[in-house]
Amino acid sequence: MQFDNLLRERRSVHQYSDEPISESTLGEIFEAATLAPSGYNLQPWEFLALRDDEKKATLREIAYGQDHVEEADTAIVVLGHTDPMTHAETVFDDWLAKDYLPNEEVRDALVENVSEMSEMSASDRRTWTTRSTALAAMTIMYAARDRGVASCPMEGFDADALVDSFDIPGEYEPVMLITLGYPEAEASDIENERKARRPVEEIVHYDEFDPSDETVLAPADD
Ligand SMILES: Cc1cc2nc3c(=O)[nH]c(=O)nc-3n(C[C@H](O)[C@H](O)[C@H](O)COP(=O)(O)O)c2cc1C
Repeated sequence: MQFDNLLRERRSVHQYSDEPISESTLGEIFEAATLAPSGYNLQPWEFLALRDDEKKATLREIAYGQDHVEEADTAIVVLGHTDPMTHAETVFDDWLAKDYLPNEEVRDALVENVSEMSEMSASDRRTWTTRSTALAAMTIMYAARDRGVASCPMEGFDADALVDSFDIPGEYEPVMLITLGYPEAEASDIENERKARRPVEEIVHYDEFDPSDETVLAPADD
């Protein structure tokens, strides 16, 4: 699909059909996520993909009863590792092997930089991992849409309950949930309607930042 069409046609979908997503399609969607950019290419993301009905029912409770978590074919818990060092040595060894880095001293200096980043506060570590992991999440949603699979990103969940119920180690930040499934053919008009967007002139500031003090919602093109 043309990227512009994909961008315009994506919706956050809450009504899913019973049609299953094949393992190969899911595999392609997650393969796309691996291609997302990340700070220093450290790729802090991991995904808990729930397909089992009981597990999705548990997640639905954690997501304050949002039905689409259970109705979707797959509910993804998007996790971000909060320690930048986790994959640093492997990634910089790859850079060195491919001559992106001139020598081992530069490789060691980069490892040292990232090691210092690891001393960040817990709050900064969560911000750090969320930046890259959210880009992987968006990549999943576009890759899914390109294959006719609808999605919905979600922040409405109890992170503490999620960590407890699914035994998520403390180093991981639950960044968001994503539901995935083929959309219900008879979906409601509200589902298909394009939600209004803030216009370009309100959100873009060339050369100087002059914060917007009003919100003008404009009907989007489609
Ligand atoms: C970070 C984030 C959190 C969201 N959380 C929820 C959620 O908990 N439940 C839900 O139904 N939709 C959720 N949404 C979907 C938004 O409501 C939706 O993206 C927005 O209304 C714009 O609609 P559109 O995605 O169809 O363009 C979330 C979206 C984002 C980006």
